[in-house]
Parts: sequence; C-alpha cells; structure tokens
Amino acid sequence: MDGPSGSGKSSTSRGVATRLGLRYLDTGAMFRAMTWWMLQQGVDVDDPAAVAARVDAPLMVSGTDPQAPTITVDGTDVAAAIRTQEVTSSVSQVSVVPEVRERLLREQRDIIGSGGIVVEGRDIGTVVAPDADVKVYLTADPEARATRRTAEMAGSTVQATQADLLRRDRIDSGRATAPLTMADDAHHIDTTPYTLDEVIAQVVALVEQAL
Ligand code: C5P
Repeated sequence: MDGPSGSGKSSTSRGVATRLGLRYLDTGAMFRAMTWWMLQQGVDVDDPAAVAARVDAPLMVSGTDPQAPTITVDGTDVAAAIRTQEVTSSVSQVSVVPEVRERLLREQRDIIGSGGIVVEGRDIGTVVAPDADVKVYLTADPEARATRRTAEMAGSTVQATQADLLRRDRIDSGRATAPLTMADDAHHIDTTPYTLDEVIAQVVALVEQAL
C-alpha cells in the first residue's frame, strides 16, 4: 500500500490486516524512528553525509500486530515520539539518503519474509515488494489529506499541515532513490469521496479476488 501522506494508508492498511488476519508493517514509522534517533544524537539531518554516517540506529520493529504495531529504539517504545512536528518536518530529508534506505530495505524484507502481511509506505510496490500479490496506491485531495492529518496532530492548522504535506510530497516524489510513484500494476484508489470502511472494503475485495 503506497501513497502520499494523509491519503489514508495507515488506517486502511491496519483495517485490512485486521479484517484478513494478516500482519502489518508501517515502513514510514521506521524512517521516522531513524529520524528521531538522528535528532537525539544531534545529527544535522540536512547534511546527507552526516546522516549516512549514522545509519546504525538501534531501531527494531518489535511487533507487527495491526492493533498494536511496536517500534523501539534501544529498547524504548517510540510510537508517540516519532509523531511530533519536529520528526515530521525532518523525516523526508533523512529518507532521501540512499544508505538509510538500504539499511531499512533489508529489515523490511526480513520482516515481510514469505508474506501474509500488509505493508505501507512510498516504495513498497515498486522497490520493497515488487512481487506483492496485491498493490494498492491511495491518493486523496490535498485539502482532505491535510484535514485528516491535522485532526491527528494537536497544535497545527489545516493550512500549515497542507504546506508541510506538499513539501514532503515534493521531496518524496523527486528523490533519486525509490521515489514515491505508483507501480504499473497497482490499483489506484482516490479515497476523497469514501469513508474509511468503504476503502477497507474495496481493498479487502481486491485481496480476495487476487488470492
Ligand atoms: O507514512 P509517513 O508519513 O509516516 O512517512 C514519513 C516519511 O517517511 C515520508 O514522508 C517519506 O519521506 C518516508 N518514507 C519513505 N519510504 C517509505 C515510507 C516512508 O521514504 N516506504
């Protein structure tokens, strides 16, 4: 499941995994945990060489239950810490660095193993799991995306959130390594007019048709 921020990927992926009894992996959380750790270490996240030198972050995805996905850094659960504005505004700069992507790609493939998992991100259908049974690419109008994200994050306005989403989209889509793009064989769903339950039902139907 790929798509830009606020397109409904997380809620949809978790809902689909829960309905189908599958595991769940949020690769965005891995990039966020890496970013959180870099900021803690005082790394200048706008300096790709400095970021590349510190990809040894002790982060671990320790749970793939869609109801309680768990990611730790040095044994500490960072679920809340990785959702702050500070991490959100730095994560795309860290994700652009090829060494970061290489390290996390290895771990993502290890976790995916032989399958039975819903994986969300930006490059899952194109790079991480090009042989996935079902690929879904979610989009939504920028305003709908910003409204959803603002509701999730305290202390921000829709306008500020929309500007940040569009800035991240630009970096995520324009980077050289594994940019945000739809795989040729992905199903595109524009979630703007649908409720979450409707989108989950559409994706579950796609999975059931494919298997
Ligand atoms: O999905 P989420 O908004 O939490 O992702 C945070 C950031 O992580 C994205 O803006 C993007 O820069 C990066 N990311 C990525 N590749 C992925 C997942 C996330 O580059 N597969």
